[in-house]
Order: sequence, then C-alpha cells, then structure tokens
Amino acid sequence: MGIEKIKAGVLGCTGAVGQKLIALLDKHPLFEVTEIAASERSAGSIYENTVNWLEPNDIPGNIAGMKIKNCSPDLDCKVLFSGLDSKVAGEIESTMAENGYVVVSNSRNHRMFDDVPLIIPEINAEHYKLIDAQKQNNRKGFIVTNPNCSTIVLCLSLYPVYKSFGLKKVMVTTMQAISGAGYPGVPSLDILGNVVPHIPDEEAKMETETLKIFGKYENGKINFADFKISAMCNRVPVRDGHTISVSFETEKKATADQILNSFDEYNTEFLKDTGIDVIRYFENPFRPQPILDAGKGNGMTVSVGNLRECRVLDWKYTALGHNTIRGAAGAAIINAEYLVKEGLL
Ligand SMILES: NC(=O)c1ccc[n+]([C@@H]2O[C@H](COP(=O)([O-])OP(=O)(O)OC[C@H]3O[C@@H](n4cnc5c(N)ncnc54)[C@H](OP(=O)(O)O)[C@@H]3O)[C@@H](O)[C@H]2O)c1
Repeated sequence: MGIEKIKAGVLGCTGAVGQKLIALLDKHPLFEVTEIAASERSAGSIYENTVNWLEPNDIPGNIAGMKIKNCSPDLDCKVLFSGLDSKVAGEIESTMAENGYVVVSNSRNHRMFDDVPLIIPEINAEHYKLIDAQKQNNRKGFIVTNPNCSTIVLCLSLYPVYKSFGLKKVMVTTMQAISGAGYPGVPSLDILGNVVPHIPDEEAKMETETLKIFGKYENGKINFADFKISAMCNRVPVRDGHTISVSFETEKKATADQILNSFDEYNTEFLKDTGIDVIRYFENPFRPQPILDAGKGNGMTVSVGNLRECRVLDWKYTALGHNTIRGAAGAAIINAEYLVKEGLL
C-alpha cells in the first residue's frame, strides 16, 4: 500500500502559474490536487470548460471535470499552492494561513515580510525557521514564498560565487519571456518584433529579494546580505525562459577556473539527491538560449554560459531559467516537498 498523499489546492488555477502547478502536480508522489480555486468569474464552472489550457499535455483526467471554487477557507486540503494575481493574493493568502492552511505562494505580496520565509531550498533552507514567528503571531497555518522568476535565476547562478568569494557589486540586465506576464499578458502588438524596457516593480524585486535570500537567519530574523545590486529588466518576444546578463565584483579575487569550480561543486552537492542539475555550465559561448535550454532538467536547471572578464566589474556571464517552472510552479513544489521532508507539513 502506498503512502497517503497530502491534499493540495491550487489557488489561481486558471492562470499561467496555476496551470503549470496543475501539470507538475499530476501524479506527484506526495501531493494530490483535491481543490482548485480562482476568481468569482470562474468559480462554479467546470475546469476544462473555463480554462484556456496552454500546457503541452492534456489537462490531467482528475482535474478536467473538477468544479472551480472560490478562494475561501472551506477548501478540503492541507496545503495551498498559490498562483494568484498579486492584486488579490495578499488578503486571500493571509486569510487562508489564519484559517490553518499551509500557503506556498508564488506572489510578491508576502515575500519581504519579516516573518515570512523567501526560499530557494538549495540556498537558504534555514530561513524556514521564520515559520515559528508566524505561529507566535496567532496564525494556525503559515505562508512560505518563492522569489520572483528572474531573481531565482540570478540567485541560483550567483550563489556559488557569493559563497566562495563574497560579493561587492552586481549588475544584472534581464530579457524576460512573455509568459512571465501571465495570461493573456502583454498584448501581441506591444511585444511582437519589439523590446519593452520596463516591467513594473521588477527591478526593485530583484534588488531586494536577492539580499534577503542571501541573508543569514540569526536570532529569529534575517540579516540581509549587504552587497550593491542594480537590475535592469526588459520584456522580450520569447515565449518561455528568462535570460539574464550578470556582471559582478567579488570580495576575494577569483580566477575563471575557480568560479567555474564553484558552479561545479555547488551543482554536485545537489545532483546526487535529485539527479537534476541545479546549474549547468555551457562551454559553447552561444548558449544558453531560451528555445534550446529553458527546458533543461525538466525546466528546473538554471543554465549558465559565457563566463568572461568584465572591464568594469570583475567577471560577467549569461544565465537562463524557465520562468513558470524553476521561476514559479516548480519552485513552489520543491518548497512544499522540503516542508514535508522537515516534518513541517
Ligand atoms: N508567470 C510567471 O512566470 C510568474 C513567475 C513567478 C511568479 N509569478 C506570480 O504568480 C502569480 C500568478 O501569475 P500568473 O502569471 O499565473 O498570472 P495570471 O495568468 O494572470 O493568473 C492569475 C490567476 O489569479 C486569479 N485571480 C484573479 N483575480 C482574482 C480574484 N479576485 N480572486 C481570486 N482569484 C483571482 C485568476 O483567476 P480568473 O481566471 O478566475 O480571473 C488566475 O487564476 C502572480 O502573483 C505573479 O506575479 C508569475
């Protein structure tokens, strides 16, 4: 007899992230989707009749005929994966956590709260200790969050460097996919054959979230990392996969070989557990590319290439990650898996 799966709900089930959550949770060994919920516009209707399904595989059989519910605290599940629009995620996620649910959120609303962990398990799993502070604040459940989709690509590629050599300054320029704006997202006339040099609030998110993620948990709070970071964010006509160009100055000087070794050692640390590369480095300077590489490691690998000297800071490289998988739904699922492993869910 197999183990009993944990009942899971998907909030924002009709959106880009919600659909990816439903696709990735299909036949998951730990979680079973028992509830799906979205706005009042969708509630009461049958999923397959309502959703504009964008995933390559069919809607999972157990979900297609399921009724979409409202995001209210009467859902029959223990954990809620949230892909809610940030306009409404703040209030709904708080209500759900107060009513005893474990909320694993993709939305920005709670990421920077003092008592909410902002997690990439391969980097800062110790930040889960912040959950205790939420419990002291009279919540029956709790909220954990994963970072903004570009921040995840930056952090996973830069953390080995930070860990080994420290950082003084970081400059990052993003080329972000259209699917990062949700569905229907950016109007086609704005993006076809074009580049849009502004994504509201994105630069601030990358600059602040990175310092929290690289921060240290001490005495019940996170002491943020203190290097300088500047982000420039652009929307480009790519369907999936955020590409970033990163320049950085380290505290301790490092050679190219030492930096490449830091990627390699870091990757090896996790590869043995999951069989999936956290970081894959390409020797070919024309890689990574979204079409070729966003799906590496089932969308969970951050691809890095083209490490070279920078004439302003010390070094520069290109990185790429799948925004709705590693940058959102996949990130939330590994957070929830970690909670189960630690007995927190
Ligand atoms: N797309 C990405 O790559 C990505 C990456 C990382 C993080 N995120 C974050 O993840 C969240 C979801 O993003 P997305 O791209 O999936 O957005 P999306 O495609 O616009 O989907 C938004 C979802 O929120 C629901 N919703 C809207 N208003 C609601 C309300 N008043 N009450 C309840 N549900 C409501 C929508 O349901 P209806 O269909 O019923 O309106 C839909 O299911 C956002 O906070 C976003 O910033 C996105």
